Amino acid sequence: MTMDRRQFLATSAAATILPSLGSAKYYEHNLVAEPIVTSLVPGYDFKTEMLGFNGSFPGPEIRTQVGQPLKVNVRNNLDEGTAVHWHGIRLPNAMDGVPMLTQDIQEPYTTKSYEFVPPDAGTYWYHSHYNSLEQVARGLIGPLIVEEASQIDVDEDITIILSDWLMNNDGQLIEEFSDMHSVAHAGFMGNYARAIFPQTKIHMGDRVRLRLINSATNRIFPLKLSGVEGKIVAFDGMALETPRDFEDIIIAPAQRVDLIVDVSDNLIIDQLLRDGFFRLGELPIEGENLQRKVSPIEALPKSTKPKPSSPNRELELVMMGGAMGGAHGGDNIWSLNNVSDMPAQPCETFDKNETVKIKLVNQTAFPHAMHLHGHHFYELNDNGEVGDFRDTTLIGARGSQDILCCFDNPGNWMLHCHMLSHSMGGMKTWVKVG
Ligand code: C2O
Ligand code: CU
Repeated sequence: MTMDRRQFLATSAAATILPSLGSAKYYEHNLVAEPIVTSLVPGYDFKTEMLGFNGSFPGPEIRTQVGQPLKVNVRNNLDEGTAVHWHGIRLPNAMDGVPMLTQDIQEPYTTKSYEFVPPDAGTYWYHSHYNSLEQVARGLIGPLIVEEASQIDVDEDITIILSDWLMNNDGQLIEEFSDMHSVAHAGFMGNYARAIFPQTKIHMGDRVRLRLINSATNRIFPLKLSGVEGKIVAFDGMALETPRDFEDIIIAPAQRVDLIVDVSDNLIIDQLLRDGFFRLGELPIEGENLQRKVSPIEALPKSTKPKPSSPNRELELVMMGGAMGGAHGGDNIWSLNNVSDMPAQPCETFDKNETVKIKLVNQTAFPHAMHLHGHHFYELNDNGEVGDFRDTTLIGARGSQDILCCFDNPGNWMLHCHMLSHSMGGMKTWVKVG
């Protein structure tokens, strides 16, 4: 039997005990930003005072489905202002959560609603975008998962948050967030790092999806995963056309990496160090999955956003400043094209749908993770070929990276280093589209 839309609406209206079509398809969530205490270090009995959402760090995982309207009501129960940014989502500008550019600061004890329809499935996250070095370091972050319209063939779907914290011996955060030495160098770093994930049961033979999110303010994690074998299937939410083999994984602040892997032993996540490794987390296997049949790992459904054609404009954006970086024209520690901090006017204005090639040149002695709001862009390889589709790109010290972006989302969009110390130290600007 098939039903047309009118019949379906009539049926669901008649069955009043069931949730209405409206609420079944409309995903509404409440987030309360508030001070919390949490056990950050497993096995120790101290509790760390942090900030969180709905009593927890990380904030609750918001799960929705691609193409479905999402509404999040954010309550600010802090004694300071805040704003929530939905990192990586191509959303309407007014929903982007950037104080002074797309909204006012959300004052204490007020509620603000954000509404948008995520156009792409994938792994995203939300975080404070007000005083963000400090508020992210203190815990105002959470995962935002946009599920594909069709079921992905995995036994478990596990979100893994990577972060680091600077703590004293009592497990309390050391609040030297904006210490100027770290701002001018690689940024505020923790003395303790961890991979946080739900204690889901995994079995030998399971096929699992791992969603890695680096929520650290400044730390780049080189990772080694043991006990599993498989492929990278997405970067920054966006499906790779062809799943990719991996050995080590480098994940810069704000970046995401999705993997589909087969479990052969306890899942272990290590951070690679110059001389060894640091264990970030471990998920032991329990029993065996005998149902799972061996099959190739397939690509996730890809973004509906068309690949851009050749650029109608080329630009250069030069990262400058910092320690050992030499002189630059900005009046803060870092600058982009000799301008520090948010200029009154956009650094560039684009027509809607303009395709632009931007050469990101890093003249500094430190790596930077450049993030563009409201858009994804293609990384171009050395031969100018179109590579991965990302919202945050890591550029090595004194290196460069070309990107190709179709500016199809009207509004005022930030472009900044996601090493939040560098952003605080001036490495931020904005572009205007349309
Ligand atoms: Cu993740 Cu400007 O943000
Ligand atoms: Cu940086």
